Amino acid sequence: MNLKRLYIHTIGCQMNVYDSEQIAMQLAAIGYEQTATLDDADLIIVNTCTVRAKAEQKAFSFLGRLAKIKRYKKRLIIGVGGCVAQQEGQRILERMPAIDLVFGTQAIERLPHLIQQIESRHCRIVDVDMAERPDIPDSVVGQQEPVQVAKFVTIMRGCDNYCAYCVVPFVRGRETSRQPESIIREIKALVAKGVKEVTLLGQNVNSYGKNQNLCSFAELLAMINEVEGLVRIRFTTSHPKDLGTDLISGFKDIIKLCSHIHLPVQSGSNRILKRMNRNYTREQYLDKVSELRDTCPQIAITSDIIVGFPGETETDFDQTLQLVETVEFDGLFAFQYSDRPPAPAVKLPDKISTSIISNRLQVILAYQDQLTRSKNQQMVGSTQQVLTDGLSKKEAAGGPAGGDPSLQWTGRTSTNKIVNFYVVASTANSLNLTGKMVAVHIDEGHSHSLSGRAVNLEPSLRGLKGVENYAA
Ligand code: 5AD
Ligand code: SF4
Repeated sequence: MNLKRLYIHTIGCQMNVYDSEQIAMQLAAIGYEQTATLDDADLIIVNTCTVRAKAEQKAFSFLGRLAKIKRYKKRLIIGVGGCVAQQEGQRILERMPAIDLVFGTQAIERLPHLIQQIESRHCRIVDVDMAERPDIPDSVVGQQEPVQVAKFVTIMRGCDNYCAYCVVPFVRGRETSRQPESIIREIKALVAKGVKEVTLLGQNVNSYGKNQNLCSFAELLAMINEVEGLVRIRFTTSHPKDLGTDLISGFKDIIKLCSHIHLPVQSGSNRILKRMNRNYTREQYLDKVSELRDTCPQIAITSDIIVGFPGETETDFDQTLQLVETVEFDGLFAFQYSDRPPAPAVKLPDKISTSIISNRLQVILAYQDQLTRSKNQQMVGSTQQVLTDGLSKKEAAGGPAGGDPSLQWTGRTSTNKIVNFYVVASTANSLNLTGKMVAVHIDEGHSHSLSGRAVNLEPSLRGLKGVENYAA
């Protein structure tokens, strides 16, 4: 089999990152090896996102770049996958003659066949078929990829919630959960390759299994907790309306479950939450936050906010700001509302002007930035358990400033804070800490990360869930 080169460009969420890995492994079966260099590629796949207008613009501008490359490289095959592909289908082929393949979010398993057809018949293909409730096939765990410490595992696809602003139910289809046995099988295979942490992915993991009579999400977590060799479990995303007491208790009882939850609130105004079809009130959201903190005091809570939803008044926005101030999130993603047809909010009156939206966005981001920084600074002096991902970027770029001879490593706390650290030891440069749990004394807190030094290279698993002080 002739070796051919594949370049994948991924835009969007973690689900797309996971799908891109599946794309790579599917195509490895027909002789494609991944390359990091665009110019080397025989096949380029763009995995797109349409959740916000900006992501879609990014996809089309990248595709425009590819069309230029194809002018002097006629045999290059270009495929577009993901949510834009699902939504636009045939229109992409009509609009862009350089594109050979448009494949939807449920066509990944058919890719080898589709690409082989294009290779042999030089045809152009659109495959955006979506089943009513598709089976989620077993994932492929590749042999050849380098071991990473943390991996994503999709446990659900699609969404049945129909939030008024959101295009996901239309491009990812109905909510479908994967069988628990298939999930456990994949996690065991990953762990056997050296993976220590998994992040379970779904649009609304709290409703896992419900419409198919599978086990509950909390039960699934308990089963995954038993996988030997796995050190940490994370998940995303939770819908506040479905966050139940059983899952909240999991933050106390499930030892490998990290102390972090991403719980998108979207707005702090009940009027807007109703218009958004979110099915909870600000009071209910705040109650869930209290319950989470009562159960797991060290838990980090992050959230998403949409600024400028149609009809959002100054009062509504103030209520959002107040909620953000009350909760004191550990991190916040704030987005400018954008119309995403066929999401129903497109038809709502009282659209907010872009200048008002960007002012509101700035206010909220400025508040959160100073809060995140001060929260990070409060951690100075504590000792944190860090699961090491590998050498830090700074290291890759030539080592720490000031000529410090020790290597700088990077990892995350259970609360999902990035920690860059070095090891003070004569043997430091010969150690490989990748995948190791290390106790790190925090010396500095920055806007997006912490930095410090390792004080114990073999901390016990006892302190897995939180902060523990070790003698240096
Ligand atoms: N406009 C702006 N933000 C959006 N999001 C989803 N749809 C839109 C939209 N139409 C945001 C939500 C969601 C995150 C993934 O993207 O905050 O939680
Ligand atoms: Fe979109 Fe709402 Fe489903 Fe999240 S829960 S994917 S915001 S429809």
